[in-house]
Order: sequence, then structure tokens, then C-alpha cells
Amino acid sequence: MGTTIPDFETDIFSEEVLQDPYPTYARMRELGPVVRLAAQGVLAVTRYADVRTILLDHGRFVSGRGVGFNDEFNNVRKSSVIASDPPRHEMLRGVLEGRLGPRSVRSVEDVIRPKAYALVDEMVRRGSFDVVSDFAQIFPVEVVGELIGLPVDARTELLRWANGAFDAFGPRGDRTTAGLADIAEQFDYIRTVATRDKLAPGSMGAAVYEAADAGIIPEEYCLHLLSAYLTAGMDTTVNALGAMVWLLGSHPEQWAELRTMPKQAGAVVNEVLRIEAPAQLFSRVAAVDVNLSGFEIAEGERVAVVYASANRDERQYVDPDRFDIHRNPAGHLAFGTGLHACAGQALARLELRTVLEAMIEKVETITVGEPVRKLNNVVRGFTSIPADFTSLSVDDFASSRGSL
Ligand code: HEM
Repeated sequence: MGTTIPDFETDIFSEEVLQDPYPTYARMRELGPVVRLAAQGVLAVTRYADVRTILLDHGRFVSGRGVGFNDEFNNVRKSSVIASDPPRHEMLRGVLEGRLGPRSVRSVEDVIRPKAYALVDEMVRRGSFDVVSDFAQIFPVEVVGELIGLPVDARTELLRWANGAFDAFGPRGDRTTAGLADIAEQFDYIRTVATRDKLAPGSMGAAVYEAADAGIIPEEYCLHLLSAYLTAGMDTTVNALGAMVWLLGSHPEQWAELRTMPKQAGAVVNEVLRIEAPAQLFSRVAAVDVNLSGFEIAEGERVAVVYASANRDERQYVDPDRFDIHRNPAGHLAFGTGLHACAGQALARLELRTVLEAMIEKVETITVGEPVRKLNNVVRGFTSIPADFTSLSVDDFASSRGSL
């Protein structure tokens, strides 16, 4: 017999919570390893150890019954890689792995690095800019757009659809309904613009159609794999870049220190992702009755898996709400873990690290103004962050080196 699962009354998808969910996650962790979200009737796990246990147990906590929180979305997305169990998952993931694995990604570093440096140079030249619209939204869309081989620059729409596609995971409500309409538009774009004849030869997008031509995947999965690239590959990294500049600008003493230790860049990317997980939560369904940390979860129960809370669990991290460039939390769960661990994490890490390395080299001070939060059912980010970058002038640089 398991212990009774406590109810959690606060709606974690309400606007108040989405503004700043971390105190609410802390209360959920405190209440117990498993809680029932009264507003949705589903369960939730928020402690690091339990989130990790569920993610690693893909046989008993399945994705194939959908990882969102409403049936319409789970039905629309039922052919996607994220909502698949083996063996279909292996078939779809295999197509992505070929292009997103560490070796393929290393080979695109030469494409990405000059873009990162050019973008940072441009912001330094401007001095004042908006971190979201002028900076964070530019880079991933350019990088992923080029890697997919997209024919037309539909940047604003691509981001709107990606943001909506994440909203659509949520429980029924206005944000979710609008998100479902965005997915329909994104699918239309894929069917009419990102077609096999229009994607650049040799691109990741073309490789999806080649896999269908070679009989590796049925043709109908192409739409969903391209949608995975267009959704998962853009808005997440946009939000991570925004969070990175905001956190470093809000901690000037740590920025000054980081500039003296550029080799720390990869570790700082981990810390940014730990403290501001761009994808806050998805869900799983129990395929059988399971006992988790003493609580009985019945077959068929949906369980919210809150990565963002796990990353701030005081049982796992000392002083978890403190941003600390010395922490290097390599085991954070912002990319999930196990079978469905983010397929694009090598690319996302490379994008974030190269931008940070360019900033360390070129930017002396970062000043950030009052940010505006973007409210979304799954991804956490900003609509706007006013910022200033200053750099050493050539004379200052020379005198700092003692050559004048
Ligand atoms: C900072 C950026 C990113 C974050 C925080 C992130 C986060 C995540 C998380 C948490 C999952 C796990 C889903 C689950 O447990 O069910 C995931 C899966 C996935 N991500 Fe990412 N992601 C990022 C960037 C990317 C990029 C750049 C791509 C592709 C270009 C990508 C493609 C995918 C795909 C295809 C999956 C599904 C994998 C599967 O089900 O096997 N992601 N991502």
C-alpha cells in the first residue's frame, strides 16, 4: 500500500505562476515526491531524484501516450519523436542522430563560430540593443534555418509557430488553443514551403526526405521530424541565449570574473540551463502500476515531469536559487535524460558556448534593464530585455597591455 498522494491546489499554468514559478515548485517539492495538481487532475514530480528516475524508466513511464497535457495536442503530435516509444522511437531518432550527433555538430562549428562573433561585434557596435529581438532571436534561427536548408526567410513566423507549438502542450485554455492554431500554420509551411524539392541539398531537412526515399521511415513522418527541428531547435535556444545575457548582466561581478577565465564558458552554459531551464516540463503516462518513492501511481496516470524544479532541488544543489559561475552542474536536467534526452543538445551547447566565448572576448560590461517575461505553458523566456554592451576601446586595450 502506498501513501496517499497530497493535492496541490495552485494552478501551475496560471499567469501568476508562469511569471515566477520557482517558489511554487519549491512548495511542491516540500509537499512530497509526488503531488496531484488539483487544477488538471494529473500527478507531478518535482524533486531531482524522482524526475531522473522517471526519465530513465521509459518502459514504465511512456511517452507514446503523449507528453503534453491535453488530448487534442497529444493526438496531433502522436507521430512525433518526442511522443514515441521503442521501436518507433529508435526509427525516428535514428534519422535525427545522424545529423545532430556530436561528430556532425563538431563539423558545423566552422559555420557557427563566425556567425556568433559577427553578431556580438554588431551588438558592441550598436551599444544599446534588445537582447531578445536583436540578439537571441537572430542566431538560432539563422543557424538552424541554414542547417535545415530552409528556402525562405520566414523568421518571425517560425518563432511565433515554435512558441505556439510549446504553448499547445499545456492544459486546455486560451494559450493552448492559440498554440494549436500555430502548429496548423507551421504544418502548412512545411507542406508548402519546406518541401523536398525546396530544401538545400545536403541539409538536415533534405536528409529527412532521403530517409523516407530510402525506406528508413514512412513518408508521413517527414512532417513531424521537420516540425521537431522547427520547434525544438529554435525557441529553446532563443530563450537560453536570452537567459544567459540576462543572468550575466544581472551579476556584473561574476561577468568581470568570467572574463578572466574563458575556459569556464561550457560550465557557465550548464549553470544558465540549470537555473533557467528553457523547457520547464513535459509529461509521461504510467504504463503499469508503479511505486515511486513510496507512492502508488496507477496505470494510466499522467505525470508532469518538471525539469526546471529538479534543477533547483535543494536536495541536489547547495543554495539552488543562486546563479554561480563556479558551480558546473553537469548533471542538470534541462535537456532531460535517458531515451528522450534532447537530440539537439550538442548543437544547442555549441551555439550557446560560441556566443559566450565571443562575448568574453569582445564585451567588457553588460548592463541589463527591466526585462519583460514571455508567458508560455512550457518554455520560459523573455519578450524583451533592454541591454548595453561596452567594449574596451583600442587605446584602452593597448594601454591595458602596457604597450602605450
Ligand atoms: C537550450 C536548448 C534546448 C533545450 C533546453 C532543450 C530541451 C529538451 C528537453 C528537455 C527534451 C526532452 C523531452 C522529453 O524528456 O520528453 C528535448 C528533446 C528534444 N529536443 Fe531539445 N532542447 C534544446 C535544443 C534543441 C535543438 C537545438 C534541437 C534540434 C535542432 C532539439 C531537438 C530535440 C528533439 C528532436 C527532442 C526529442 C528527442 C526524443 O524524443 O528522443 N532540441 N529537448
